[in-house]
Amino acid sequence: MFEAATLTSTDKPGLYRELAVQLEALLRGERDPVANAANMSALLFHSLPDLNWAGFYLMRDGMLVLGPFQGKPACVRIPVGRGVCGAAVLRRESVLVEDVHAFPGHIACDAASRSELVVPLLRDGAVLGVIDLDSPRPARFTPEDQAGIEALARIYLAACAG
Ligand code: SME
Repeated sequence: MFEAATLTSTDKPGLYRELAVQLEALLRGERDPVANAANMSALLFHSLPDLNWAGFYLMRDGMLVLGPFQGKPACVRIPVGRGVCGAAVLRRESVLVEDVHAFPGHIACDAASRSELVVPLLRDGAVLGVIDLDSPRPARFTPEDQAGIEALARIYLAACAG
């Protein structure tokens, strides 16, 4: 059984360094992208404060399709360019939204969401999917969260590549 150690850092960079160590251990020896996405979603949802959704959308035939997640049921298919997730795919970079109500085209899966961070999963120039985090707190995510989740995304991609 994987035992998540209690996170002790009070600053975000330290918190993400601890989470990186935990994620490495959690994914070690497993390459299946869905299994790893499921465990990573659970780790993020239960480790990071003030989240109401944490999960993956995976590219399937040119469209984002709902993958493993924690939180309320969500919309299943998101075309590239739509919503925050679709914008991250189009731009091939992370999208940090302090106020989802001010983001044109934001897709509200959970009415409680107020801020959002989406990080694309890039391999050899191709977008494999995105990691999506939602919070009920406005401006919950900062560039430190973005850097932290981008580092965790690299650990996920490396684990799945074996
Ligand atoms: N809000 C996202 C849709 C996915 S849910 O947040 C889980 C978006 O605008 O792309």
